[in-house]
Amino acid sequence: MDGKSLRHRALAALVWTAAWCVVATAAKAQPAEEYEARREAVRKLLSPRGVAVFKAQERSAESYGCPFRQESNFYYLTGINQPGAVLVLSRRGLPIVGQERPAKEVIFLERPTGGEELTPEQPTSELLIDVARPLHEFYGVFAEALTRADTLYFRAPRLRLEEPLTKELELIEAARLRHYPVVVSNPTGLLAGLRVIKSQAEVELIRKAAQLTCAAQVEAAKSVEPGMWEYEVAALVEYLFRRGDGDGSAFAPIIGSGPNSCRIHYSENKRQMEAGDLLVVDIGASYRHYCADVTRTMPVSGTFSERQRAVYEIVLKAQTEAIAIVKPGVRMSDVHEKAAQVIGQGLVQLGLISRPGEYGKYFVHGTSHQLGLDVHDVGEAAVLQPGMVITVEPGIYIPEENLGVRIEDDVLVTVQGHEVLSAAAPKTVAEVEALMCEVGIGNMK
Ligand code: GLY
Ligand code: MN
Ligand code: MN
Repeated sequence: MDGKSLRHRALAALVWTAAWCVVATAAKAQPAEEYEARREAVRKLLSPRGVAVFKAQERSAESYGCPFRQESNFYYLTGINQPGAVLVLSRRGLPIVGQERPAKEVIFLERPTGGEELTPEQPTSELLIDVARPLHEFYGVFAEALTRADTLYFRAPRLRLEEPLTKELELIEAARLRHYPVVVSNPTGLLAGLRVIKSQAEVELIRKAAQLTCAAQVEAAKSVEPGMWEYEVAALVEYLFRRGDGDGSAFAPIIGSGPNSCRIHYSENKRQMEAGDLLVVDIGASYRHYCADVTRTMPVSGTFSERQRAVYEIVLKAQTEAIAIVKPGVRMSDVHEKAAQVIGQGLVQLGLISRPGEYGKYFVHGTSHQLGLDVHDVGEAAVLQPGMVITVEPGIYIPEENLGVRIEDDVLVTVQGHEVLSAAAPKTVAEVEALMCEVGIGNMK
């Protein structure tokens, strides 16, 4: 076996070991009081007799062997990272067997299957949730709530017509047949307004995710060389995410070389890179459930061709100028327009389009999305506010030349303006080329 194959095998083994069953952990990544305050804020948004139900991710047979990832709304409200749990919030309070007073909030927990999982017997001082009950009591409370609530905030699963109803849907159906006047409403909208503004603790977790991602970008740039496979870069970054105590990847790494640099949602990562290719590396670590999303584009041979450099400089200018206008009060659409304007002008200068307004021929996606517990986070906010974290990610894709460039950073909106959380990943032409002369851990002989 040659050196490259050995290297490949070693990395694959490390990633496999790391991905094998992430142990659900009871430790909260943010101060427990923060989760308490969020639940209280949601409770206040409920209708006068409203009840909200948030289910944890299922412990399903299909997901066996896959890393566990908690449902984001449930995690936002509890910080509990285990399956088989339901949180119920009530505006007025719910009668719970064994409780003197109606409960404003109840967490239902499965009997533990081992490890560090929380149990219903856990002192509520540790959970910081008023009442904890075994999971099997949930359906009784749910049925009871349907007879008392004016609105049930519950995200019903999407089922095909031929699929059986879930137990919750059967109970909702039964309540309707019996003419209880309950309205079922998706709670995601209630939470979006809260989730879109990040607390200091959340910002620190995104910052950590961004640091891990930038470190992986640097190692990728140092390691890439002609002959390397795209999946080797994917394996390298995922190894680094886990080695840095991250949860793993926030999304499937996009490692697109040559023609694949023009494919926006590419994640097969199975091409062997050639000298002369550009490589788009769009990756993000997850850290305590919070996501980063950073893209760098690099020349596989170590130096940009004249043409690649010309396109790269336009994207970099568009990205730099778009980031520069980020501050409270600016619209996300303004950020996009700024990037599009620079790209339009650049494409005219390159002779690829005749008018700047035709930029959409080569810049085929939006510039920004919110970032947080989800990579494309909730809150399609029109106007930026302090505490939001957005991406700024313009690109130019010229499929007829196998030439795609995207540059993406994670930007915190601050009271004064903004802070780039992913600034540690170099992006000027000189910086990228200098980095690529170095030896990375992915290609040490
Ligand atoms: N990596 C997905 C995105 O950039 O939105
Ligand atoms: Mn991305
Ligand atoms: Mn993105």
